Amino acid sequence: MKKWLLATILGVLALVLAACGGSSSSEPKSSEDYTADNPLIIKFSHVTAVDSVKGKSANYFAELVDEKTEGRVKVEVYPSSQLYGDADELDALVSGNVHMIAPSVTKMVKLDPRWQYVDMPYLFKDEEHVQKFFDSEVAHELFNSEQLAQNDIKGMAFWPNGFKHFSNNKHPLVKPEDFKGLKFRTQAGQVLEKQFESLGAGSATISFGETYAALQQGTVDGAENPFNNFDTMKFYEVQKYLSTTQHGRLDYAVFVNKSFWESMPEDLRVLVEEALSEATEYAQKLAAEENQKSFEKIKSLGTVEVYEMTDEERQALREALQPVYDEFTDVITKELIDGITALAE
Ligand code: LMR
Repeated sequence: MKKWLLATILGVLALVLAACGGSSSSEPKSSEDYTADNPLIIKFSHVTAVDSVKGKSANYFAELVDEKTEGRVKVEVYPSSQLYGDADELDALVSGNVHMIAPSVTKMVKLDPRWQYVDMPYLFKDEEHVQKFFDSEVAHELFNSEQLAQNDIKGMAFWPNGFKHFSNNKHPLVKPEDFKGLKFRTQAGQVLEKQFESLGAGSATISFGETYAALQQGTVDGAENPFNNFDTMKFYEVQKYLSTTQHGRLDYAVFVNKSFWESMPEDLRVLVEEALSEATEYAQKLAAEENQKSFEKIKSLGTVEVYEMTDEERQALREALQPVYDEFTDVITKELIDGITALAE
């Protein structure tokens, strides 16, 4: 072959390779590119307070990543809706503006209605049942959904918070009739709307960061929270009555932007994964303890009248909430609900 022809072929080949991304800057950098002076940054955004169950778990995760990678990966945690609130944190994850979030799972309803399993009244028996679910294939199946893949999201771990309890400003909530005519704040989704409708109450979706003001200004009369969120958001300043209804769960899933994750050098990814699994164990121990501490604190403050429900009173609420199952079992899927119920044994 003539020299000039060979040179032309090689030149064209080099251009084609470059155009295909052979030397593009989006290619994963190698591990050595990251040092304590030039770390890989993971932005982790969430909506709760620094001292909440989620806030402490996220900070612990950041500490572990720092330790394990000797500062070569830095998790920047943005708490209290500082960077993104409920309305936009999922979009920020999809677009890669943040790399990790840990929303209350019901907020994933935007992508997949099955995440509302968590709101089905009295579906979980106790903390042990919740933990069994987190460890089960039934739960991890939710991470394998088309919707997550299509939105470039990877599910990484489940973190607990706790059982929710109703509070309000009008009167103690004991019987189903006590809810009539009141208006409650909800996180998201139609299951929660139906929950309040079944009790003769109204509801409005309000972002977590705006809930204190909504309760203070009377936009809504009440809310539903685990004790720790009620405590760390100081809802005890703007709510008069709390009943230990324990009617639903509030738990989290940790998600990462998939392209970002896959662009990380393999060895650093392994260390971050290790850190996440230790932070998950920490969250699992912390959640029940912190909720119990917050409950004791709320009772001792004297600003909120706490009513401790009996099993019979909870049973009456459960019966009043049956319409939620009638309407939403097919949406959540019978398979998922039965799968969760079977884990209670
Ligand atoms: C809420 O909006 O009530 C919760 O999702 C907040 C949280 O993340 O715990």
